[in-house]
Amino acid sequence: MKRIGILTSGGDAPGMNAAIRAVTRKAIYEGMEVYGINYGFAGLVAGDIRRLDLADVGDKIQRGGTFLYSARYPEFATQEGQLKGIEQLKKFGIEGLVVIGGDGSYHGAMALTKHGYPAVGIPGTIDNDIPGTDYTIGFDTAINTVLDALDRIRDTATSHVRTFVIEVMGRGAGDIALWAGVAGGADDIIIPEHDFDMKEVAERIQQGRDRGKKHCLIVLAEGVMGGNEFAAKLAEYGDFHTRVSILGHIVRGGSPSARDRVLASKFGGYAVDLLKENKGGLCIGIENEQIVARDIIDMLENYKHKPDLSLYQLNRELSV
Ligand code: F6P
Repeated sequence: MKRIGILTSGGDAPGMNAAIRAVTRKAIYEGMEVYGINYGFAGLVAGDIRRLDLADVGDKIQRGGTFLYSARYPEFATQEGQLKGIEQLKKFGIEGLVVIGGDGSYHGAMALTKHGYPAVGIPGTIDNDIPGTDYTIGFDTAINTVLDALDRIRDTATSHVRTFVIEVMGRGAGDIALWAGVAGGADDIIIPEHDFDMKEVAERIQQGRDRGKKHCLIVLAEGVMGGNEFAAKLAEYGDFHTRVSILGHIVRGGSPSARDRVLASKFGGYAVDLLKENKGGLCIGIENEQIVARDIIDMLENYKHKPDLSLYQLNRELSV
């Protein structure tokens, strides 16, 4: 291939810019041309497309968000939207497309693949919920942002001998809560992938109190329920001076961590290697520290991301 396109879609994630930079710089290094598509699949259908040069991706590696902008665009789930998108790609002479995003974006890339258009997916979402990779771009930065919040909340929780319910993003996945919770020494972690019993949560808080613990931090994944609802249910089992903190979109912004920048650079470079050899219909990932490419249709139709539940058990043992 000589001319490729790139877009970011769905919820933005720190490190997306580093991935766009890597794709652009590597492609130009290989003698190819790169076209950036603004606003994800919405911009693709609208033809909001421009050529990217070396300088366009300068001073971007350290920035959060995505300078190509992003959008949620359910219309791309329709055949009509997909064919319009392919028409635009052909109009610009773009022979293959790099799609950076999460689950919805991968489904867009899969649809293009099913129409015979070569697309390569790069996993970019804070949720870490994509099959075919151990880690997604943005996850490491997100858990470090949550960790920073937990350390701060612990200070005030201790001062007032309070229980805090900290609600974190993650959609249907508990990875952010799990990893940040373990790193932050959370007293309990509540995730969609593991049952919990509110009575037992209350008993653990009381046990901590009885042995003189001054703080209690419960990290709650949004996929279970909202923080306020959780606190109201907990109150039925006792008064733990509970406060709720909903971290929300704060967790999605900020400068990407070194790990996310390196991951994004590796993924971007590899995406170009694949398209240069006319290989599409793939999604890139990292498995056991090795960069891999898997069939995107097989991944989405037959696999589901699973969190590392050994961390859940470990946290129960460590947070007594
Ligand atoms: O998928 C990323 C994510 O931040 C989820 O964690 C969250 O549930 C969702 O996006 C929020 O979406 P929006 O920014 O469209 O409200």
